[in-house]
Amino acid sequence: MADLMEKIVSLCKRRGFIFPSSEIYGGLANTWDYGPFGVELKNNVKQAWWKANVYARDDVYGMDAAILMHPKVWEASGHVKSFANLMLETLLGTVKDTAQKVYLRPETAQGMFVNFLNILDTKHPKLPFGLAQIGKAFRNEITPGNFTFRTREFEQMEIEYFLPPKDADKKLAEWIESRFNWYLDLGIKKENLRKRPHGKDELAHYALACTDIEYNFPFGWSELEGIANRTDFDLKQHAEYSGKDLKYFDDSTKQRFYPYIIEPSGGVDRSVLAFLVDAYHEEKVKEDTRVVLKLHRDLAPTKVAVLPLLRNRPEIVEMAKKIAADLKQAFVCVYDDTGAIGKLYRRQDEVGTLYCVTVDVQSLEDKQVTVRERDTMQQERISLGRLKDYLFHKLI
Ligand code: GAP
Repeated sequence: MADLMEKIVSLCKRRGFIFPSSEIYGGLANTWDYGPFGVELKNNVKQAWWKANVYARDDVYGMDAAILMHPKVWEASGHVKSFANLMLETLLGTVKDTAQKVYLRPETAQGMFVNFLNILDTKHPKLPFGLAQIGKAFRNEITPGNFTFRTREFEQMEIEYFLPPKDADKKLAEWIESRFNWYLDLGIKKENLRKRPHGKDELAHYALACTDIEYNFPFGWSELEGIANRTDFDLKQHAEYSGKDLKYFDDSTKQRFYPYIIEPSGGVDRSVLAFLVDAYHEEKVKEDTRVVLKLHRDLAPTKVAVLPLLRNRPEIVEMAKKIAADLKQAFVCVYDDTGAIGKLYRRQDEVGTLYCVTVDVQSLEDKQVTVRERDTMQQERISLGRLKDYLFHKLI
């Protein structure tokens, strides 16, 4: 299994998914940069999360808070008391004596709690409702490692779901199911995913209950996401430290109270790593081994590659380039003529490209191309007039 991790790290470097940060200077320990394929995969993961948790629901609003927050936020949240070794500090202001010490946020969550009033005032939502955001967080982890699994700079995808306290247990169970199914719907194998409820002794200082979704990484079962009942801890703390009234007024019962909060909190980098590990396959094809990333169609960095069978035939090259230019209007599509067709297929398999469109001599005559599907390697002749529609139905 350690071998698999080495293969993933090597593929990521070789094909441009993930590079060691500042590599020309020898790298910066446990810090990583996403390359051309990595950024597409990462963006697709974030987009899939946003689609499922914001666009597909009527009760969750998106937002994007600043990384830097008022220092009092971290006193109210309890982080200064129980997390201060782990928080990264910086100075705001150019004159050292008067510069203000601030923290790089260790979770995106607080940006949503401190905007609770703004959301009430602008959207006038009824409970239950949620806020969702994706963004960077920073922690001075004592034991970073396992590639991008535990780093000091990482990205979170978090939802803070506000609700009447009496509904907390039921909604916690619903969110655990919903978040578990999100990973399955995006292709993670069921046997590699499990739920693990926290013991009382493992709970964070703000949580009454928490269940982790864990993935069976090559280095063992490890947390992908935690879904916690944060109670009314955060709103009460911020009300006390800010002096603002953060209670919710229920029009129907005429009662004012602090809502409870259910928080599904996942890591972008960890999800990307799990999707990569789960998608990695080695298959024997005749005498050869093909490496293929069987990424879900919504996650694959490139959807279509257009390849000319003979790159020394200008008419074929011209036709292939024209097809690629047209497909680029609809899908993430690349053109590649830098090798023999077998090599080009392998290259696209390794980065998870879903369809290869090959233009050959016959295409010049019959205006048809060969479309090859990544996982089955099955090939079909499709007329140019139908190509876009054909791919559209497969990909959307
Ligand atoms: N707001 C709650 C919270 O931050 P957490 O369990 O500490 O909870 C949530 O973090 C998620 O953020 C984790 O499940 C993980 O996916 C990701 N995460 C946390 N620390 C990380 C790190 N050092 N490197 C990469 N991802 C991390």
